[in-house]
Amino acid sequence: MSKKPQVYVTRRIPEAGLELIRPVCQVRLWEGRLPPPKEVILQEVGEVDGLLCLVTDPIDEGVMAAGKKLRVISQMAVGVDNIDLAAATGRGLPVGHTPGVLTQATADMAFSLLMTAARRIPEGIEKVRAGEWRTWEPMGLLGADVWGATLGIVGLGRIGTAVARRAQGFAMRVLYSDSLRRPELELGLEYAEFNRLLAEADFVSLHCPLLPETHHLIDEQALRRMKTTAILINTARGPIVQTAALERALMEGWITRAALDVTEPEPIPAEHPLAHLPNCIIAPHIASATLTSRDKMASMAAENLLAGLGGERLPYCANPAVYGG
Ligand code: DGY
Repeated sequence: MSKKPQVYVTRRIPEAGLELIRPVCQVRLWEGRLPPPKEVILQEVGEVDGLLCLVTDPIDEGVMAAGKKLRVISQMAVGVDNIDLAAATGRGLPVGHTPGVLTQATADMAFSLLMTAARRIPEGIEKVRAGEWRTWEPMGLLGADVWGATLGIVGLGRIGTAVARRAQGFAMRVLYSDSLRRPELELGLEYAEFNRLLAEADFVSLHCPLLPETHHLIDEQALRRMKTTAILINTARGPIVQTAALERALMEGWITRAALDVTEPEPIPAEHPLAHLPNCIIAPHIASATLTSRDKMASMAAENLLAGLGGERLPYCANPAVYGG
């Protein structure tokens, strides 16, 4: 009987994924609530044929070099900016990811943050809890209209498009900027060069991947271009926004509010000033955190892992260049 391949799973993931892996692999599972330390990953990867990892695990050249028998890396996420894809391709290692299955959950979260920030809901909740709700106030907690406002979507991929669809239900004018114009997706959307989008949007929602060219895309200059009444929403990746510039923008009124599901650093320390500004809402990177999305992400990650172990092409491969062509 041939020996089962060994795999290292860097955190407990939904059973929907583990139950596909267990019958065919020997599973080494990190049971900690926090990610495994780098030394543990380096040691484990030296023993296994496959790695199933998360956005919280930095998978660099060193990790890959330590994986002497490693045949596949499968990440339970759509974004793979924590993985050195070029190094993986250079080593002939396919990298799997989970596109599509978290699109709607993430778009729901972006729109929830937009509405929550527009209507200052967390400030209202705080007021009630602090016993400061004394009466109906004609001028209290005035927020921004969502209906009919202008939304600027930065990055019109799957998630950006799903957010645009939601915006259409609110009669919003939707601008988008992207490295590509997407006429087939325009759905009544208007392409706008990035600086025009910043200047005209009431809400700016980020949906681009983190790449060298999008790192700190929202810096002081970009924030100063936005309307003073504008609201920034980030459900993409923390480092797309320069944190220090955002903090100043919110304190000095260059923009009115921000709602973030991702931060730089991540997690943002509880004592960080941004975490205490009344005009900043921060959620703990939960955009894909619905029961069905996480189950689908786990089973998709398992499918990629098993395909790689079996020498087959990964069904959802983040570095197709690894197959040549
Ligand atoms: C992703 O999939 O890239 C998210 O950030 C985690 O769901």
